[in-house]
Amino acid sequence: MGKAIAIDGPSASGKSSVSKGVAAALGFIYVDSGALYRGVTWQAIRKGVDTKDAAAVLESMLNAEWDFFVQEGASVFSIDGEVPVQELREKDVREAVADVAALPEVRKFVVENLQALENFGSVVMEGRDIGTVVFPESPYKFYLDADPEERAMRRYRELVAAGEDEKAHEVMESLKKRDQIDATRKADPLVVAPGAQVIDSTAMNLEEVIQAVINAVKEDV
Ligand code: DC
Repeated sequence: MGKAIAIDGPSASGKSSVSKGVAAALGFIYVDSGALYRGVTWQAIRKGVDTKDAAAVLESMLNAEWDFFVQEGASVFSIDGEVPVQELREKDVREAVADVAALPEVRKFVVENLQALENFGSVVMEGRDIGTVVFPESPYKFYLDADPEERAMRRYRELVAAGEDEKAHEVMESLKKRDQIDATRKADPLVVAPGAQVIDSTAMNLEEVIQAVINAVKEDV
């Protein structure tokens, strides 16, 4: 069984860039767990399912054919033979995903699939409940944080760079709303996992954060 480095934290705290950097440096597989919640949301929307209708979301999720594989050092999945990537970042998915991710049955399905990815090798997995629920036994748990304004600015720059027509204050509002849903939902809310090292990246650059994680795990890997 491989090792698992768990990287949790709120939206736009730098989890993706840090996790990708750590995975590349250590030769581990990068796993974006949020992509799976987005995948469940995307396939429901695509089939015309109302994402507020929990039973319908579950039915379409379970009826879909899911496949997992590793490509260029990252875990990838297909749903009914299609590999959604850009689609997972679109506005309709972004706006519905927090509600879908709050459904306990969706979480159970996603967590089981995430745990199975260890069979492919050692992983760096980013998310909200990786240290608390997916790999609670892992000795390598991190909680990344940054001030809300800094996170909103990072996300805003990302969206503008991706060609989206967004307003900074709307990004801030949407981030706050998602933080609120993620932290207060009944099923696996975002909390600092017991034993996790908290890294506040507000005043750190990407390389410094990557190095902080690598330093904390490198004696063992
Ligand atoms: O990290 P992200 O923005 O792609 O996450 C999308 C949504 O999924 C967000 O509402 C949080 C949720 N999520 C979760 O509940 N648990 C995870 N391990 C990862 C993401």
